Amino acid sequence: MTKPLKKVAVTGAAGQIAYSLIFRIAEGDLLGQDQPIALHLIDLPEAEGSLKGVAMELNDCAFPLLKEIKVGSQLESLFEGVHYALFVGAKPRGPGMERKDLLADNGAIFVKGAQALDKTADRSVKVLVVGNPCNTNCLIAMHHAANLPRHNFFAMTRLDQNRAVFQLAEKAKVATTDVSHVAIWGNHSATQVPDFFHAQIRGRPAIDIIQDRAWLEGDFIQKVQKRGAEVIAARGKSSAASASHAIIETFRSLLVPTPQGHWYSLAVSSHKNPYGIPEDLVFSFPCRSLESGVLEIYPGLAMDAFLEQKIALTKKELIEERSLVAHLLKG
Ligand code: NAD
Ligand code: LMR
Repeated sequence: MTKPLKKVAVTGAAGQIAYSLIFRIAEGDLLGQDQPIALHLIDLPEAEGSLKGVAMELNDCAFPLLKEIKVGSQLESLFEGVHYALFVGAKPRGPGMERKDLLADNGAIFVKGAQALDKTADRSVKVLVVGNPCNTNCLIAMHHAANLPRHNFFAMTRLDQNRAVFQLAEKAKVATTDVSHVAIWGNHSATQVPDFFHAQIRGRPAIDIIQDRAWLEGDFIQKVQKRGAEVIAARGKSSAASASHAIIETFRSLLVPTPQGHWYSLAVSSHKNPYGIPEDLVFSFPCRSLESGVLEIYPGLAMDAFLEQKIALTKKELIEERSLVAHLLKG
């Protein structure tokens, strides 16, 4: 029997991430090969011509699962009944900027977006914020969607996780599939904490396989923290295809139960978290999806003293970002 249609909204749909993302969604990579979908493509009014071109190309692919396409800039009507909302639309940073330098321009986008979502989206809508700085933008969105559960709002740190997996695999001269249990703690920024302490290589602690603590504490962490800037310096534009791939993987992890004893990285509400992070932040934790569909922060990981110090820094930065947008937060 055919499954009921799921509606997926993408903001920033005329941008570079969306240009690789939308076609993968239409092909079934996001929600599965048996899930019919409607795509609601949203961008600014000035980008509507470009959106129409994207819609033409989607039609020209004749994707079997893609049943409906809507394009435009009207948030309330385009969020109507959506089950998944991907908030990609926002300015990217340029060379020499930190992601939080975008707060002044991008923060307000998430007030309007969340208010519209709150009015018209399906009540169980899952919201992934990608536009930077994604943790704090997600916090803003949560504050302005009082009728939607905050546990359905997420900010993306999967790209950082994938970057960390690659670095560990390259150092240990193993396949990326040999690396597991990698988590990112904190902010999607240069203070993020890629966790080498709990990471595993072929089922053994990565610290036992790599046996180079100086590299793990130094080059490894910095490489992952600064990889976004490195891509911008090389490409002249921020990462797009790898971001799009990370969006797909984030949803697969959210929607498919996580194998026993494993986790993945996602920034979620810090509400009642088991690691002592203050309330009212969007913080990246190791997470797992239960059979029931509930997402849980993976509990009980013992903390290494070095990582604990680093986590204190990323927590401090998120608190600072929150104070920078205090005027955009409710309550
Ligand atoms: P882009 O400039 O190519 O596209 C952004 C699109 O958003 C543009 O088409 C623009 O018109 C649109 N837009 C701007 N304001 C909007 C609004 N209010 N409503 C709807 N659309 C709006 O940028 P990109 O490379 O696609 O990156 C998008 C965002 O994603 C940036 O903020 C970037 O920094 C961020 N990003 C995050 C990650 C992550 O891992 N979290 C990774 C890569 C990029
Ligand atoms: C990334 O990590 O590649 C994105 O957040 C883009 C950026 O500004 O670094």
